Amino acid sequence: MSTEIYYFSGTGNSLHVAKELQKRIPDTKLIPVVSLLDDDIIQTSGESIGFVFPVHALTIPIAFKKFLRKIDPSSAKYIFAVATRYGTEFRGFKTIDGFLKKKNKILDSHFILNMGHNEEIRREGYKVPTEAEILKIESSVQERLDYIYKIIVNQETHQEKDTDYIVPVNYLMEKFVLSAMAISEYIGGVNYFYSDSKCTSCQTCEKVCLSGKIKIADKKPVWQKDVFCYMCYACVNLCPSESVQIKDIPCIKSYTKENGRYPHPYATANDILIQKSKWRYHHE
Ligand SMILES: Cc1cc2nc3c(=O)[nH]c(=O)nc-3n(C[C@H](O)[C@H](O)[C@H](O)COP(=O)(O)O)c2cc1C
Repeated sequence: MSTEIYYFSGTGNSLHVAKELQKRIPDTKLIPVVSLLDDDIIQTSGESIGFVFPVHALTIPIAFKKFLRKIDPSSAKYIFAVATRYGTEFRGFKTIDGFLKKKNKILDSHFILNMGHNEEIRREGYKVPTEAEILKIESSVQERLDYIYKIIVNQETHQEKDTDYIVPVNYLMEKFVLSAMAISEYIGGVNYFYSDSKCTSCQTCEKVCLSGKIKIADKKPVWQKDVFCYMCYACVNLCPSESVQIKDIPCIKSYTKENGRYPHPYATANDILIQKSKWRYHHE
């Protein structure tokens, strides 16, 4: 049984999970969704297909929704999804199932993994995980994946119940503000990102920008007005000099200047930017 894992990853957590699943599930290909988003129809060819992505503002990332609209999963006899997050409630599996039902498929199994938090932007007092915390997260991720992959290989139905989180009101507000931010960036040409004086012109931000919104002009990053940001925060978290910042936005103060940065410990800028390349299969 051939398996295709379609993944999206701003800072490497979801990529790590996709790679670890690939190690455990025979005959598995990894396919970055970003490389396919310009296609009119995304035709799958795996008999089993999986989606691995981060939770963004309680739901699935903008780019993943675009992917789900275009996908033709008719090859699939079994479909699974794994969401990575730092810890709030996630409400996106129903959304995925909704997209699939329109294509006469269902989401057979889904899982959630708690990992390092890459949205330090809004959190006062946020701390980048220490080495000991990273090891603890990794050990629980490995344990969970040992459990998850067997369900996938045996093609079991498994709708994992989420823990009973109560989403704080301010987080719900953030969800709307983030969506408004993405839309106003695009429609209104408003720019919430900037690089400060620590910028060394290394151009990493442009390379890792999954939407292609960042272009270098006069050796400095410029966020293009007419390109829709995927809100992956790769530019913020992968900048080696931590110079990429987010401005305060209505009702929410940005803490990017005070807080550290979180890329997954095994993720390099190259791992992130490779998602844009047009090769169909990666990490073989
Ligand atoms: C814009 C944005 C919104 C996020 N929203 C949530 C959220 O609602 N709940 C949560 O638990 N984590 C949230 N996160 C954290 C990520 O889901 C988490 O760190 C994820 O594992 C990152 O995966 P990646 O490295 O593959 O991008 C958010 C991250 C970003 C950048």
